[in-house]
Amino acid sequence: MHERGEPVVIVGAGLIGLGIAYELARRGASVRVIDAHEPGRAASWAGAGMLAPYTEAHPSADFEAFCVSSLALYPEFVADLRARSGVDARLALDGILEAAYDSPAQDRLRAQVESRLARGIPARWLDRDELQRFEPALGRTARGAAFSPSEGHVDNRRLGRALRGACDALGVRIDENTGPVALEADARRVLGMRHPRGFVPAGAVVNAAGAWAGSIEGLPPHAVLPVAPVKGQMLALAMSSNFIRRVLWLPGAYLVPRDDGRLLVGATVEDAGFDVRVTAAAMRTLLDAALAALPSLAELTIVEMWAGLRPATPDGLPYIGPTSLGGYFVAAGHYRNGILLTPATARLIADILEGRSTGIDAFSPLRAQEAPQPAAK
Ligand code: GLY
Repeated sequence: MHERGEPVVIVGAGLIGLGIAYELARRGASVRVIDAHEPGRAASWAGAGMLAPYTEAHPSADFEAFCVSSLALYPEFVADLRARSGVDARLALDGILEAAYDSPAQDRLRAQVESRLARGIPARWLDRDELQRFEPALGRTARGAAFSPSEGHVDNRRLGRALRGACDALGVRIDENTGPVALEADARRVLGMRHPRGFVPAGAVVNAAGAWAGSIEGLPPHAVLPVAPVKGQMLALAMSSNFIRRVLWLPGAYLVPRDDGRLLVGATVEDAGFDVRVTAAAMRTLLDAALAALPSLAELTIVEMWAGLRPATPDGLPYIGPTSLGGYFVAAGHYRNGILLTPATARLIADILEGRSTGIDAFSPLRAQEAPQPAAK
C-alpha cells in the first residue's frame, strides 16, 4: 500500500477522516488518526446530514456522478457501521421536497423536474393537493413542490459515533485533542506527523482536516492547498412526531426532521473566517424564512443553536488524491457535501493508496498546487 511498514496517518477525525480510517482498516491496513481537537465535532457534527446530490447541485458532471455514487453506497455503509458499532445512523432515503411559493419558482421547479426525468433521474412534480398529503404541516400556501424521491438524510452526529465505534472495533488508534499538528517531510516525501505529545511516523499521511486542511503546519509551500472556512449557522426546534416528515427546501432555508423530535432549520452561508459564534441576525434570517413558509412553526420551542465551518475550495470541487509531495494525500474541501461524500471519498482514497486508482482528475489536488521548487543544491 505504501513504501514502508509504518501506518497510514490520517489528520482529522471528522466523518471524512474516520471514514477513510474505517475503509483502510477493513482492508487490513495499519491506520492511525490524529485530531487536534475532539473527534467528529466540527462540520461532521454541525451539518444537517442531507444526502442530496441533485437538490444541492453543483454544475460539474464529475461532481454529480461522485455524489450519486456515494449516495448508492450509503445503505450498506450504514448497515455495516451498525453491525460493527451498535449505533444506527438513521438513514432515511424517503425523498426531498423543494416547495414553490410563487409562479417563477413553480416554473423553475417544474422545468427542473422535466430536465431530471429526461436524464433518467427520479423526479416528480407534486401539485398543491398532493403536497398537502405528503406534508400536511405545509398548509396550502405552497403552490406545489419538486419531489426528488431518491434523496434523503442521515443523522450525522449518530454517524460520527457509529464510525468512531467501528474504527475502535477495527483497532484504529485515534489520538484526540492533541493540540496543533505539523507534518514532517524531507525534500522528497512525508516522514510523519508531530504534535505536542510526540512524533508519529507515517508511511503515508492523509489530510482530512476539513476547514483546517489549508492550515496544517510544516508543509512545503507547493503542497499547501487553498481550503477556506465558510460558516453555516443552524437551529433546532422541538416538534411533535411526524410534524415534518421529509427534508423540505424552502425559499431561504431548509428543514431536516430528526427522529429524536428535533427539526433542524438551516443554514446560513457566511464568509467569517473561523468564527463559530451564533448571531442574532443569522437566527432571525433563518426563522424569518422558515416562518414565512410555515407559520405553524411559530409556537415550537428552540432547543439548540449552533454554527459550523464548511471546507470550501476556489472552484467548489474537493481535493481528493495524491499531491506534489510523496506520501502526502488530501481528502478535503467537500464544502456542502462532506457527509454525503464520506463513503465514496473513503473508497477512493483507499483505492488510491492501494494503487488501484489514480483518482478522479477533476478532484486532483495537483490542480491547485504550485510547481515544486527544485531542492537546494
Ligand atoms: N449541506 C447543507 C449545507 O451546507 O448547508
